[in-house]
Amino acid sequence: MDDLSIETRDGLPQEWKFLLEKHPRDSWKSNTQLGEHTKFWLSIHRHFRIMGALLTSQSNAYREGQIDSDTFRTNMAPRLQQFLQTLDHHHRIEDGVFFPKFMAAEKRLIKGIELLEEDHHTIDAEVHHMISVANALLQTEPADSEGLKRNGESFAISSDRIVKLLDRHLDDEEEIVVPLMIDRGEVELMSE
Ligand SMILES: [Fe+2]
Ligand SMILES: [Fe+2]
Repeated sequence: MDDLSIETRDGLPQEWKFLLEKHPRDSWKSNTQLGEHTKFWLSIHRHFRIMGALLTSQSNAYREGQIDSDTFRTNMAPRLQQFLQTLDHHHRIEDGVFFPKFMAAEKRLIKGIELLEEDHHTIDAEVHHMISVANALLQTEPADSEGLKRNGESFAISSDRIVKLLDRHLDDEEEIVVPLMIDRGEVELMSE
């Protein structure tokens, strides 16, 4: 099997796409079997993507010298804690509640769901790193321009990595979970 690490893969392997082929992404919106839980779950993913786009635009603005590291941290600090907490909570629910039900319901997707769990570990490790670099940036004295620059760059690197990991994970997770929810019905699936 190809290397399916979140760092290197460019999508799901064919063997886990049998439900996606039945329910392709562009049909989800109009599918009457798409339930409220799944719509809400997709809206959380949308929120993560919006936050990712904001992190990217702020990191780029900082790197291109449009904002200084002080402005960078002032712009990001209020949103960052909520984003990382929501992400952590989201992973816990998926790992603890959703994924065991999905694995029980569709044995052919067990390996795919295990891969999504592995993604969570990789993303969570980067979240821990991001918290430490964000704290270092927040605690740097305004007069310490070298420290601000160094910690600002570390934060921007971590931010790029989180966004890249999340983009890959969210797309692949949706392409396993949404077709399964549509195919089996979310009420039936979640009550098993
Ligand atoms: Fe996930
Ligand atoms: Fe998710």
